[in-house]
Amino acid sequence: MTELRVRKVEIRGVPLIGYMRRLVDRGKLFPARIWEGKKVGVTYETNMGKTIGRIDDFRDIELTPSLHPGAFKQTFVDGPVLERAERILRETPALRGRMVPIEEKPMDWEGLDFSIRPSHAMFYAKIKKGEQWPRADLVPYEEIGIMPSAGVLNYGQGLFEGMKAYWSAAGNIVLFRPEDNAKRAQEGAKRLSLTPVPVEYFIDAVKRVVMANKHLIPPMGKGSLYIRPLLLGTGQILGVQSAPEHTFIVYVSPVGPYFKGGLTPIKLLVSRKYHRAVPGGTGNVKAIGNYAAGIKPSEEARSNGYAEVMYLDAIENIYIEEVGAANFFCVKDRIIYTPKLRGTILPGITRDSVITIARALGYKVFEKRISIDFAMQADEAFCTGTAAVVSPISSIVMEERIAIFNKGKVGPISTRLYQDLTAIQEQRADDPFGWVREIG
Ligand SMILES: Cc1ncc(COP(=O)(O)O)c(C=O)c1O
Repeated sequence: MTELRVRKVEIRGVPLIGYMRRLVDRGKLFPARIWEGKKVGVTYETNMGKTIGRIDDFRDIELTPSLHPGAFKQTFVDGPVLERAERILRETPALRGRMVPIEEKPMDWEGLDFSIRPSHAMFYAKIKKGEQWPRADLVPYEEIGIMPSAGVLNYGQGLFEGMKAYWSAAGNIVLFRPEDNAKRAQEGAKRLSLTPVPVEYFIDAVKRVVMANKHLIPPMGKGSLYIRPLLLGTGQILGVQSAPEHTFIVYVSPVGPYFKGGLTPIKLLVSRKYHRAVPGGTGNVKAIGNYAAGIKPSEEARSNGYAEVMYLDAIENIYIEEVGAANFFCVKDRIIYTPKLRGTILPGITRDSVITIARALGYKVFEKRISIDFAMQADEAFCTGTAAVVSPISSIVMEERIAIFNKGKVGPISTRLYQDLTAIQEQRADDPFGWVREIG
């Protein structure tokens, strides 16, 4: 296991203010102003214009303004820069900082699951509705201040994305089709009256956060760094309208592989009671509200021994839409079928990748309405998503009926598509469609 020693140097505004106050008490100096330095360090001076300290030595360290007014912090530095920062702290009595161990014990890459682990840095940018997104700093991963009347808290005006960064077999840190996540977020922003984030800006933010948390990318095969961009209406609003202030955040968390020990087929429960989306609603974008409505159906399915719930269309209650947070596919007589995107289904990036790979392999792929009766007669079934990759389905249960696919084992076409997709993603094979982005 690689030993990882990461520490953070935390320099807070408050101890500096304390220092100034002591000087004033002794009648030697006037109250001082403190600037939050970016890259150049911390400068503080009296109101007589006399600089009493300049910590230029910090120029290699990105000093990040804290989200909390009245305090600033410097965090996450390691290696030689960290050592220098620690020395400066020791040798500069004016600067009251703290050296805080944040991750002294080695990371347990084996124990990773899909749960949040604190990271060092996140991207945070806030604008007035409709303004241009500004160049913004990375800030520590920490609480964000938000008013109770924020649009997102009251009316769910928000969307998210889900992506991952990982080490490839070629030794690169890579992203998979990030432009498509950025474009999908733009579609979501338009639907939810949020200010769209330009594609380049979105990708730049993602790259910066990944590289600042590079040490949290699990070794190849042990998982990935899950990336969660968020676009939220954070301004205060009482009526149901777009919030006057919008916030774009990107945070990350290391997660384990979805399948530990090979492809494991899953059991699904068809819901006739709950629906995920309606025509004209927000099913085709990653609106946060879509997911709130899915929590109870998923809980019910899991408590009955199923991996996930499978949704049918809300009008006729016959046609398959999606599986929890993944897209559905089935195979009959070597022809691949997947529900057509009709405004109620999320256009999954994995879905599109699987369709493209399957067609390139010579399979016919039909995007059409798929009734649950048809799907229950299929030879194979699987679902796709960033987390699920290609997840084989062993059985589907609807009321009294059960369909078992390929005797409950992983089917040959599901296996082939899983292998081909992951080979491209992990740079074990050529990337004929130009999907993989090397970022480090
Ligand atoms: C509702 C829903 N469907 C499908 C998917 C799969 O999309 P992708 O392949 O882009 O991860 C997701 C996950 O993002 C989802 O939330």
